[in-house]
Amino acid sequence: VQAERGGYKHFMRKEIHEQPEVVEATLRGRIDLAEGDVYAAEMGVTPEVAQSIRRVYFVACGTSHHAAIAGRYWMEQLAKVPSVVELASEVRYREPLFYPDDLVIAVSQSGETADTLAAVKAAKAGGARVLAVANVLDSAIPRVSDGALYTHAGPEIGVASTKCFTTQLAALLLLAVYIGRRRSTLPQERAQQVLQALWEIPSHQREILGDADYVHAIAKKLVHAKDVLFLGRGLGFPIALEGALKLKEISYAHAEGYAAGEMKHGPIALIDEHLPVVAVCPRDAQYDKILSNLQAVRAREGQVIAIATKGDEAMLELAQHIVWIPKAPDEVMPLLTVLPLQLIAYFVANLKGNDVDQPRNLAKTVTVE
Ligand code: G6P
Repeated sequence: VQAERGGYKHFMRKEIHEQPEVVEATLRGRIDLAEGDVYAAEMGVTPEVAQSIRRVYFVACGTSHHAAIAGRYWMEQLAKVPSVVELASEVRYREPLFYPDDLVIAVSQSGETADTLAAVKAAKAGGARVLAVANVLDSAIPRVSDGALYTHAGPEIGVASTKCFTTQLAALLLLAVYIGRRRSTLPQERAQQVLQALWEIPSHQREILGDADYVHAIAKKLVHAKDVLFLGRGLGFPIALEGALKLKEISYAHAEGYAAGEMKHGPIALIDEHLPVVAVCPRDAQYDKILSNLQAVRAREGQVIAIATKGDEAMLELAQHIVWIPKAPDEVMPLLTVLPLQLIAYFVANLKGNDVDQPRNLAKTVTVE
């Protein structure tokens, strides 16, 4: 069994370290760097369909829902298509309104999650076109959808999703570029920059994973924390949500992911010297804003653990601990910033002696309501 885990103690750790490889597998054969374009004919979104979409409507659960939030940002920023994200379990009972020119994107690792499948059926009944972004070939959701874009993460054994998440991000970013190019809303040059940055992700990920020992040292400080607040803005927001979910799932600590700008409307009341705050704060367009949120945390003696871009001197003043991320364009940052958060959750859970791969009360795939 140790061999199946590639020499690691748990599948989750192995899967975290597989990310450079599986992200590359998800990109391979689908991008043309010279043209700044994406090939994904298999998904059935023809150029005519891409041009006629009036709205993208993402449905998903759990970690896949967090990938969908990033997908929405990209769909709006790069493809300029109005987009919404909904939790599948909310959509199915809400009498949702779908239109024939909606593209519903169902994101699901397993392709079998009952709530997501039900949301897809509701969308189809409403006349919408449905695209599945799934990891398991020929699973239920791709089967009932009009097309599928597969992630190539390979089988994921750990209940807490890691490598499937980053491949979902890669697939959704490809999709936004593809649609943006078909609609001429994304200039070729910008598409080339984004795709080039995406292509360089695996090597940046290897660099971050090489610093795992430092993340382990940070995790030691979090072992006794009862509550941890994760903050992010923009593309850092879904990563804050995902970091909190990972910690909850396997370490059983209470963690909350919050949009940093929303902190003043509630979580700030919790901040004192006992509350660790994990901040996703790469040097992106939202950086100045999150910096002032962190100043507010420091003014209340909160402990800051920052995920920051190399060379960001200002962060040294603000954070007690910093995990450095290589420089990269804003759009691809989520594929990097999530890695330290996965490792933090893994190390904290392992230090507590928890069953990391099979956390209590959770299932890998939820095929019942
Ligand atoms: C379960 C798993 C999560 C996963 C979620 C959605 O809760 O434990 O890791 O994110 O289901 O699963 P899906 O297969 O639809 O992505």
